[in-house]
Amino acid sequence: MAKAENVVVKEISPPERWREVQREVGIIGNSESIRQLLETIDQIAPTDISVLITGESGTGKELVAKAIHLRSRRRDHPLITVNSGAIPEGILESELFGHEKGSFTGAVGPRKGYFELADKGSIFLDEIGDLPLTIQVKLLRVLEEREFMRVGGTTVHKVDVRFITATNKDLEAEVRKGNFREDLYYRLNAMHIHVPSLRERKEDIPILVKKFAQDFCRENHIEFAGFTDGAMHYLQQYHWPGNIRELRNLVEKVIVLERGNLITEYNIQKYLKLTDHDNKHLPVPLNKPKEELEREFLLRALLEIKTEIAQLRELILTGMRPQYHLGPWREEVHTIYTEEQQPEGEPEKSKSSSSVAEMEKKLIQETLMKTGGNKRKAAKLLGLSERTLYRKINKYGLR
Ligand SMILES: Nc1ncnc2c1ncn2[C@@H]1O[C@H](COP(=O)(O)OP(=O)(O)OP(=O)(O)O)[C@@H](O)[C@H]1O
Ligand SMILES: [Mg+2]
Repeated sequence: MAKAENVVVKEISPPERWREVQREVGIIGNSESIRQLLETIDQIAPTDISVLITGESGTGKELVAKAIHLRSRRRDHPLITVNSGAIPEGILESELFGHEKGSFTGAVGPRKGYFELADKGSIFLDEIGDLPLTIQVKLLRVLEEREFMRVGGTTVHKVDVRFITATNKDLEAEVRKGNFREDLYYRLNAMHIHVPSLRERKEDIPILVKKFAQDFCRENHIEFAGFTDGAMHYLQQYHWPGNIRELRNLVEKVIVLERGNLITEYNIQKYLKLTDHDNKHLPVPLNKPKEELEREFLLRALLEIKTEIAQLRELILTGMRPQYHLGPWREEVHTIYTEEQQPEGEPEKSKSSSSVAEMEKKLIQETLMKTGGNKRKAAKLLGLSERTLYRKINKYGLR
């Protein structure tokens, strides 16, 4: 038997373990808040405790969920990610819990749901705040009893799954409003992780930019001259409402459109203006005199108004206005959208309906560009439910 002093135990220090998490999942950053995040992940991952991840859109909630799964004893089993907001309500229950043959029209055979697929692994329920109350009841049962029944079934299925959930809604407020069950909230919130927004850890911006630029250029075989210090400084002044997702989109866009050039703050200003629709989030260059800044703000505000007037004019000129009962213009757009729900493959679309479809496609495309690809924000701007927007995106083959 080996003596205790001869046994070499390979101790890995906590910071080393955090770096492993960073490498495995690609959570980049050296700020204090990121270090704390990595430490929490490292502490809770090996347990089976349910985790609720909160944070603004694009902050990396899904990455954190992956990290928790990968650092857990469940890592060799599946991590099933479910975007609760994007699945049509009518099929959500059968998607989650599966169904038996003949339980509804189209159920031609029995089918496993996500819970069964996630057995022994983890389930990541994204946008948990969008779950209808009927599903919340069933979810509570899975959490408490670790069992459920398929839609149309009578057999009780046991399941061994770890719950990871995420939301960017204020769930406590949803509980107060009666939209979210309190008992479920406390169950899911056994452990809470808040992912900080990018504006709270601006010191991470240069390292993120470099990594995104390197990855993108390598994957796309692009020669890249780099960003100037001024450009980095400018990026650090910006408010980043779309967080890391917006930063990544911007870096990739600038690299493509400024191919081969050294990227300066002037190059970046061009693109931030394009993706920005909210004046209070406009970047503020700090090195300019007050009068110049004010003039710049006014000019940008005017530009925004001009764009919106142009969009309104387009709507009016294409004959939308007289056809519908009007509310505020966003509702008007909504009316157009719901009106457009024709059966797929309808023969001989009239000219006006195809131009409506084209306009709809264009508007969705533009709004997605404005929001840096963030579908939830785009849906909100367009006055659509997220589900309807997903359907439209698929219908028009948009990316
Ligand atoms: N710390 C990070 N390091 C590197 N990339 C990151 C980091 N955090 C997020 N990202 C990247 O940013 C993008 C958005 O991340 P993710 O989808 O995890 O955000 P989210 O919080 O789930 O957003 P949403 O609420 O909109 O679903 C992804 O491409 C992700 O890889
Ligand atoms: Mg997400």
